[in-house]
Amino acid sequence: MKGEITSISGATVSVDLRGLQLYDRVYIGHARLSGEVVHLEQERTTVQVFEDTHGLSVGEPAEGTRAPLTVALGPGLIGGIFDGLQRPLPSLQQQSGAFIRGTREVDSLDLQRKWVFTPCKRIGEQVAAGELIGSVAEGHLQHSLYASHAGELKKLASGEICLAEPLAVLATGEQLFGWHHWPVRRPRSGGRKRPAERPLITGQRCIDFLFPLMKGGVAIIPGGFGTGKTVLEQTIAKFADTDLVVYVGCGERGNEMAGLLSEFDELKDAAGRPLLERTIVVANTSNMPVAARESSIFTAVTMAEYYRDMGYDVLFLADSLSRWAEALREISSALEEIPGEEGYPTYLGSRLASFIERAGVVETPTGKLGSLSMILAVSPPGADFSEPVTQACLRSAGAFYLLDTNLAHSRHFPAINWTQSYSLFAKKGTGFFREQVAENWPQLQRRCREILQQEDALREVVEVVGMEGLQDRDRLLMYAAERVRRDFLSQNSFSEDAFSSPQQTVELIDRIISNYDQSLQQLDEGRLLSEILKGSCDAAG
Ligand SMILES: Nc1ncnc2c1ncn2[C@@H]1O[C@H](COP(=O)(O)OP(=O)(O)OP(=O)(O)O)[C@@H](O)[C@H]1O
Ligand SMILES: [Mg+2]
Repeated sequence: MKGEITSISGATVSVDLRGLQLYDRVYIGHARLSGEVVHLEQERTTVQVFEDTHGLSVGEPAEGTRAPLTVALGPGLIGGIFDGLQRPLPSLQQQSGAFIRGTREVDSLDLQRKWVFTPCKRIGEQVAAGELIGSVAEGHLQHSLYASHAGELKKLASGEICLAEPLAVLATGEQLFGWHHWPVRRPRSGGRKRPAERPLITGQRCIDFLFPLMKGGVAIIPGGFGTGKTVLEQTIAKFADTDLVVYVGCGERGNEMAGLLSEFDELKDAAGRPLLERTIVVANTSNMPVAARESSIFTAVTMAEYYRDMGYDVLFLADSLSRWAEALREISSALEEIPGEEGYPTYLGSRLASFIERAGVVETPTGKLGSLSMILAVSPPGADFSEPVTQACLRSAGAFYLLDTNLAHSRHFPAINWTQSYSLFAKKGTGFFREQVAENWPQLQRRCREILQQEDALREVVEVVGMEGLQDRDRLLMYAAERVRRDFLSQNSFSEDAFSSPQQTVELIDRIISNYDQSLQQLDEGRLLSEILKGSCDAAG
């Protein structure tokens, strides 16, 4: 369907095409910039262009596709670095240099790349739509391939294949391919939803021990400027016990993203493979066109869901949702929609929920459990957590790790505030660790919380009378609390201590608390505080 541009306002362009649907993809101008329909009126159609619109003029051609923005799903996504429209950045760079200008379509998947296909069906067998027909090895994962149509298999490939050719041909003549397109805004139905039962081990003691997250759950990390959101997310991306990580850099600094990529290329996971081989990166950094940012999150979550539906544990990390919401606000104001709170569109909450609710655990047709967990950073301006984006995220998230500016200033990292953070999964997670790791996990957790609470209560007294003015028992408590904070809750991401297994975590807190209990007992037996403290310092090494 062809027409022309009637007006241009930044990245919002009106065209005279009729009969399109909301979110249909449109190519704009001689450069064929891609965009999607965001507003329809009788006489005109408004298109949000995903790319830089400099140099575009009224009267240039526009072409509607009658199909929404889709992503290509098939083997070859893992290890990829894509922009918000799922164009591989290395191919874009080859085509247009380091700075993205109007570019033509680039294939997201390499259709000529060779894969070794192992079928699990035979010629002559019946397959149902959505049934497994075989798999290829993609890195360390078995990439399952499913039939897109039902019928009797007349031909079936085996051994070396490429995606450009059909994997199988049905008796009806229908061809089955190893890849397909999927509209980014439509959740993949993929199997039955299941409750989240297994914890996601992040290796961060504060999270795993006090505020566990389950596989399939959603956590948000709100934090002011420089409180450690990016470092925390990247550390979790390195160590989380999931099969795959999908990392979306959303409006954050380009150099941080470049750092992440080179680091992931060098760092190895437990099995000695570069981390990039279990990661998909979607980059829409602050120096890239803003308009694709809104869709980048949907592009990424669709790829994450695709692998989840094969029965893998996928972790989705976004940094930061605030930049995403700002893109949404920009688009909404260009459309002259009635603004809601702080200028964000009134549908901010429902748009956020529409991708957050795509997290969860599903059971695949073959009985495997796949999960999609999300950890989303939010950067509220001025660390004001009552602002609309943080509040909207809170409504959908199961865990909340609030990063505290004061803790960050005192170089306590991760700066997770232990009094204001929470996890709705705490009970389930603790139950799991009690069964699988240590019987006394819940008791230690309770003691740890008590120590921190009592320290809080005593802190005001200390401000008035000083440490020396405290009673001996209270002084011991203050020392124990300091050890909990300094040795247990803080973890430097740039040291050996960046990852702590649940076993190491429980041993460490057990040591600190036993030490404290011993000191209390010695005090009761009449030993001098100074001697006890000296002894426990020696023991702590
Ligand atoms: N876990 C950590 N271990 C050690 N240092 C840390 C840790 N987290 C943060 N830092 C320090 O704090 C600095 C700022 O962290 P980071 O860039 O992650 O903050 P941010 O919240 O993402 O900031 P912005 O709001 O600007 O994006 C880092 O450069 C690092 O020096
Ligand atoms: Mg950051």
